Amino acid sequence: MNDTSLLSLEDLTVTFANANGGLEALQAVNLDVPEYRFMAVLGPSGSGKTTLLRVIAGLVQPTSGTVHFKTPEDTPPRIGLVFQQANLMPWRTVIENITLPLELRGDHPGVARDRAREFIEMVGLDGFENSLPRSLSGGMAQRVALARALIMEPDLLLLDEPFGALDALTRERMGAELLNIWQARETTVILVTHSISEALLLSDRVVVLSARPGRVVRELDVPFARPRTEEIRYSAEFVALTRDLRDSIQEEPEPMPVEKPRFHSRRKLIGR
Ligand SMILES: Nc1ncnc2c1ncn2[C@@H]1O[C@H](COP(=O)(O)OP(=O)(O)O)[C@@H](O)[C@H]1O
Ligand SMILES: [Mg+2]
Repeated sequence: MNDTSLLSLEDLTVTFANANGGLEALQAVNLDVPEYRFMAVLGPSGSGKTTLLRVIAGLVQPTSGTVHFKTPEDTPPRIGLVFQQANLMPWRTVIENITLPLELRGDHPGVARDRAREFIEMVGLDGFENSLPRSLSGGMAQRVALARALIMEPDLLLLDEPFGALDALTRERMGAELLNIWQARETTVILVTHSISEALLLSDRVVVLSARPGRVVRELDVPFARPRTEEIRYSAEFVALTRDLRDSIQEEPEPMPVEKPRFHSRRKLIGR
């Protein structure tokens, strides 16, 4: 891809302090994030995917290396964040959760509400403006979180397994809607996901991190033309790339199950 990059990570290392002299979460990560593109990050649990997003968002300081935004005069871009849990304010309605970032920056409440309605429509929550979070399904709560991130018109949207807690069908639908939103608004996306097919279906480039400490072990430019449909999942090329990516993700071996002695007497009983 010959894109201009929005940001680049150079030799980024993050070591967390602990009792054993430090835990290295990321090691010498070099990465260019192309502007207006959709990037997916895959990697085993504990490979530093969340840490990577937190460093980019400025929530964690790298131990060494740099995060360099290629915005005019190096001004930091506006960043939107969505996590696996929606983390909504339970006492605020849908619309009040979405207007919150605008209120915090001092927008007039009427203006903020008008703006929020636009985003409520975009994420398909019409009619739920005045609902409280406890009455929403997981998918609806994530839509609110997405709208709350989008209302700030982020240059960069960081999504940390946003659909990880949803059932498979809701997840597919949310993925498709995310693509529509991304295509309609000019923004750069970095999506952390556990799902290889989600990464291939949604993104322009897939980055694979190694098991801890996370290093970039693979960068793949996704060859599928847009607009894409769910149908491409069944193509031979999609299946081959899925297998290929699966091979480059080294999962930690599962520990062997340990026999629990307290079941011993019961087993003996059953065995008789
Ligand atoms: N704030 C922290 N303090 C200490 N260790 C941390 C902290 N955040 C993450 N870690 C550790 O860093 C490693 C990478 O974590 P994380 O970035 O959450 O991985 P992933 O999102 O890929 O599962 C893990 O071993 C985790 O326990
Ligand atoms: Mg994580």
